[in-house]
Amino acid sequence: MASLRSIRLSLRFVLPLAVALVLLAYAVLPLVGGLTVRWFVRDLDMRSRIIASALNTSLVELVNTGDRERIDAMFLRAIQDERLLALGFRDENGDLLYKTSTFPASLNRTISASHDLKFERLITLPQGPVHVATWPVESDGKRIGYLILVHDMSFVARRSDETRTYVIVLFAVLGIVVSLITVLVAHLSWRGWMKGVQAMLRGEGIFRPFEQPARSAELQPLVGDLRALLRRLDSERRFADDITLSWNPEALRRLLRQELTGERIIVVSNREPYIHAKAHGITEVQRPASGLVTAVEPVMRACSGIWIAHGSGNADRESVDRHDRVPVPPGHEEYTLRRIWLTKEEEAGYYYGFSNEGLWPLCHIAHVRPIFRNGDWEQYVAINQRFADAVIQEADSEDPVVLVQDYHLALLPAMVRSALPKATIITFWHIPWPNPESFGICPWRMELLEGMLGSTILGFHTPYHCKNFLETVDRYLETRIEHESSTISYHGNLTLVESYPISVQWPSPWGDTLPSVETCRREILASHGLSPDHLVGLGVDRLDYTKGILERLRAVERMLELHPEMIGRFTFIQIAAPSRSALEDYQAFEARVRNLATRINQRFSTGSYQPIVLKVEHHEPEAVNRYYRAADVCMVTSLHDGMNLVAKEYVSAREDERGVLVLSQFTGAAHELHEALIVNPYHIEQTAAALFQALTMPAQEQAERMRSMRALIRDFNVYRWAGRMLLDAARIRRRERLTARLSHGREHGG
Ligand code: F6P
Repeated sequence: MASLRSIRLSLRFVLPLAVALVLLAYAVLPLVGGLTVRWFVRDLDMRSRIIASALNTSLVELVNTGDRERIDAMFLRAIQDERLLALGFRDENGDLLYKTSTFPASLNRTISASHDLKFERLITLPQGPVHVATWPVESDGKRIGYLILVHDMSFVARRSDETRTYVIVLFAVLGIVVSLITVLVAHLSWRGWMKGVQAMLRGEGIFRPFEQPARSAELQPLVGDLRALLRRLDSERRFADDITLSWNPEALRRLLRQELTGERIIVVSNREPYIHAKAHGITEVQRPASGLVTAVEPVMRACSGIWIAHGSGNADRESVDRHDRVPVPPGHEEYTLRRIWLTKEEEAGYYYGFSNEGLWPLCHIAHVRPIFRNGDWEQYVAINQRFADAVIQEADSEDPVVLVQDYHLALLPAMVRSALPKATIITFWHIPWPNPESFGICPWRMELLEGMLGSTILGFHTPYHCKNFLETVDRYLETRIEHESSTISYHGNLTLVESYPISVQWPSPWGDTLPSVETCRREILASHGLSPDHLVGLGVDRLDYTKGILERLRAVERMLELHPEMIGRFTFIQIAAPSRSALEDYQAFEARVRNLATRINQRFSTGSYQPIVLKVEHHEPEAVNRYYRAADVCMVTSLHDGMNLVAKEYVSAREDERGVLVLSQFTGAAHELHEALIVNPYHIEQTAAALFQALTMPAQEQAERMRSMRALIRDFNVYRWAGRMLLDAARIRRRERLTARLSHGREHGG
């Protein structure tokens, strides 16, 4: 195996080298041939001149006496030289008076036809190429004729062939020598790198900073990444080392007990996990359409503790105790929801204004311009302080563990930090982080960054968002950034910036409670008046312009144009939860979605068939999961999205390993779910083609793709997402406590 690897490594170097040398030889050989001929011709010109001048005196005498016999004998002697093929003498009139018997007859004709009496040239005769030179024969300065010297050129061709052979051999030897040296150097370097990486994997120069660092300088850039990876794997392994104990609620509880000494978790977010809504005198508990809630709620149920959020339901106040608390989930309480109240004006400024007209479009590349107003900012600051006060009030120790969620509360970490300097604050940013130029649009960019840098850990979905954040801080604040450890030091506080791709509960909470996939499918199809073999596509989103709903509907339209056989056979169901409807941009967006759906339906409907079913209404997670199970294809076409948990929920719902996910390349999920059909949602034809491919994909391929994506979500579920952050937090807490003890000891002379 090792030798196979070594052969492969050698070939990787040798093959390109060999190809380059062959090409070089191919280019050089004709040049070598031409050069050789030129050299020999010059050589023959010289020889001809020398022979001519050597024969001149005797020839003059013999020509003057007309002694043919002696001329023939002299010529015969001269052509004993293997290269001199023939000699001849022509007078001033051009008549060939004397010649050797070897003088080619055809040459005689060529010379007679030539007007130039004196020349040197290469002539190709039937018997091969010859070099012909004529030299004047002079007696006392008077020309009496010309000596014609004919040299055989076939030896030049022979020499040229020999030279070519030498050149080829030279290139071959050169190739072998260079290859050997390259392979040797490559192997030595490779071995060095392997040893270096192995040493790093053993922890040398990784965990102990004062130790000899990674031996090879080329490996230095890897040290930081490896250090982070190893630390993570190491701490994760301590909780999930037994592979049968995967990341689950029990693992999280164990983590809290062992690593965080049973700390009570405080979660703080704008959106609450349960909304008490009253309609027609009846109060219902709703689960909002929110990726944040989908992810954090199961974690909270596992950890218990308190969740502080805005009480946005019209019956929320009626459901809380005098401390604004209510135990949830209703019926089987596992943690406490503490509600924060906002007036209409406060909600308009803090939530609709600064958060959703300012930060939301600022962080998403969706071609909607952010709007910033002083009044919104003031509300944002005030409401962040109100949430922070609630956190401080709920903390039952001087160093609570606080999980801050999302862009609504960017200022809160620093606010909590100033009251509770020892708090462990983990902030997770659920949306993308833009590049420094885009973020620079915000008039309060520095205040936001300062607020976030109150965090102990700052989490994003992808390394790319982390990089953007580090660059943004670098651009706008005076801080110390350690890229190797991905930390930012600001005003004595250290913040770890790390990517923690969010996920969903595994196994799906609906696996046991919902009917089988077949039943869900049958029921959903029947409820829409569709036949059992009808094909169903599904979209599940908040009605938000970042979700690419218009692009998706256009792709459906295009697919029907290109594949009319799908008309009447395929229906696309779009579940669109109303969202932020108080904002103009959202109202306009809803109108556009409705108009487009109507136009497409008018175009393709036949009888009772409509290709698009648009359901602009709230759906509880259970209902959404029934749709997941019924759909042949789920389309997630966000124009920009931090992660997008609909993609992961769809995969997790498909325990039958059927169904295809069409997924936008601009989602965080696309970095993990490679077996989805990845599309650029702006490219309508490409998305339409992917939809058609999904609808016609063989069951076997669907199963292979689904199985692989399900394995990823199983291994990287939401408990692992939370667990990784909590493990990092525990490690940092231990280190901080140790540092505090040591400095306390030093101060007291210990
Ligand atoms: O999709 C990103 C996200 O910030 C989620 O984290 C959150 O659930 C949602 O958007 C916010 O929506 P809303 O304004 O309804 O709380």
